Amino acid sequence: MCGIIGRIGTGNSVPYIIKGLERLEYRGYDSAGVATMKNREIFRVRSIGKLNFLKEKLAEIKPEGELSIGHTRWATHGKPSTENSHPHMSFDGKFAIVHNGIIENAAFLKEKYFEGEEIFKTETDSEVIAHLLAKFYSGNIIGTIKKVTKMLEGSYALGIICKHFPSLLFCTANKSPLVAAMGENGGFIASDPGAIGEFCGEYITVRRCEIAMMSKTKLKVYDGNLRVTDKKNHPVITGGQEYSKGDFEHYMMYEMMQQPKAVEDTLSYLFNGENINGINLPNDYFKNKIKKVLFIACGSAYHVGAVGAILIEKLCRIDAAAIIASEFRYSSPVIDESTLAVFISQSGETADTLAALRKAREMGAKILSVVNVKSSAIDLESDNVLYTRAGKEVSVATTKVYSAQLTVIYALALHIAKCRESLCNDDLEKYKNELFSLPQKIEETINKTKRKTQELAKKIYKNNDIYYIGRQLSFAVSMEAALKMKEISYIHCESYAAGELKHGTISLIEDGTPVIAIAGSDNIFQKTMSNLSEVKARGAKTILITNEEQKEDGEIDEIIKVPTTLPEFFASLSVIPCQFLGYYTAYLRGCDIDKPKNLAKSVTVE
Ligand code: G6P
Repeated sequence: MCGIIGRIGTGNSVPYIIKGLERLEYRGYDSAGVATMKNREIFRVRSIGKLNFLKEKLAEIKPEGELSIGHTRWATHGKPSTENSHPHMSFDGKFAIVHNGIIENAAFLKEKYFEGEEIFKTETDSEVIAHLLAKFYSGNIIGTIKKVTKMLEGSYALGIICKHFPSLLFCTANKSPLVAAMGENGGFIASDPGAIGEFCGEYITVRRCEIAMMSKTKLKVYDGNLRVTDKKNHPVITGGQEYSKGDFEHYMMYEMMQQPKAVEDTLSYLFNGENINGINLPNDYFKNKIKKVLFIACGSAYHVGAVGAILIEKLCRIDAAAIIASEFRYSSPVIDESTLAVFISQSGETADTLAALRKAREMGAKILSVVNVKSSAIDLESDNVLYTRAGKEVSVATTKVYSAQLTVIYALALHIAKCRESLCNDDLEKYKNELFSLPQKIEETINKTKRKTQELAKKIYKNNDIYYIGRQLSFAVSMEAALKMKEISYIHCESYAAGELKHGTISLIEDGTPVIAIAGSDNIFQKTMSNLSEVKARGAKTILITNEEQKEDGEIDEIIKVPTTLPEFFASLSVIPCQFLGYYTAYLRGCDIDKPKNLAKSVTVE
């Protein structure tokens, strides 16, 4: 993971680097650092922890220089510490580098080229790159970068500065995202165009084996054969004000409150014509050729896929499954063009999802992606893209994008059902109407459940373990609910298929353990209720999230009700109180809600 940034231009570069790092902190916040060049000397300032600690140091030391690189770290090799923070320097002080990615053969390279030399100061896989640049430096900097990067196995986006070139910024990439741009204030590189959007209107992407060299006014890109190459410019889409959190204390709360709008905007984007906006496959493919739908994703996006698989089976009568992307990429799936592979990703940059997409494509599957960030790698590599129109999501724990992704999945399922005629017109109409009523019902859910979950959080925030249970679509929601709880409150929280609990996990239930059942009004409601009774009999504090129309039940300690909807759409409403419950529980425990420990918003390593 990690985020890198660099700037060469007139005047001090450090303030630009700090601005950029603020935009990149979502990629990791274990430590941060800056290296700047002045009078042909490289000067570093680094700090463990969030960017604020680095900012404090910089305010004291006040380093200056026209050429600077910066880094925000999500630790992969070596614990979070100041020593392990980037930028890393070469043994002779000539080079400083920032790296995003993983060098898989770092140990081999250290042994092969530096055995017995006591030059390594860190436990990282990145430091070896700086030493290799110094060792193989020939006077030809581009040639040297090429030679060294050829030795590297794994993924990297690299920003490089060298004492011999005090007015040049270099960068190169393989499998990790990297952009370069010229603006009025000089040349910039970054892991994400959003980081430099304030300074540049357009950017280019630096792809596999390319090396970019920038002066204050010029950007030159070399291809793998070191020929200067022309690159297509993309407009920077992310604007500065999108980072607002309104009047709320946390981005997460702001984003939860934006869910009705995120769903509404996504719906109006998708349904603005005969077909769903973004589907380029002919209707005949869905009618006659498709045999299987696979939803492939990570984290919350995978949980959306789990809803998708159940819906596609039910409404479209096609085999469907949800698969975790990191598992898919090393599996032996049976796939051909009759398989529709659906990749769901907020960032569009998740390394495992991207690798899984490439594998599915190679095997002949049809590729359709659901992404929130335009021009991201998954967006650019997909033939069919359904955008979520949720806007910028800052909080690491996703909420509004999860809801927007669910909306896309409903739209996709209805489109396929229509093409296959697996639903009659009346049913299609009924589902579509209900889908369009979701923004309003989500709003009502927020109003009805926000206060209630705040009260409930007071009763559970001291517990060490919490369980969510559900069946079918509600099991898929319970996975997301448990993730929301554990990732921000650090309480051990698991989700279980309600009927599976008695095969082992029920032995963990003690007096007062909260067990939260998610169960809408459907034919399996009573089954989940029986499971709730079973845990109640063993001392659990039982909580039920259900529809308004359900009758109160004396057996349940706490009930949270959401507006009534069709069983298929209950997922979209029942997840809302779960998000709030996670938030308020984390709040009471004094956790850093928007930046939970050990996490990052965009996961660009395997
Ligand atoms: C991280 C985020 C999750 C997200 C997952 C997949 O773990 O914290 O919120 O669901 O990555 O990310 P993607 O960008 O592919 O949706």
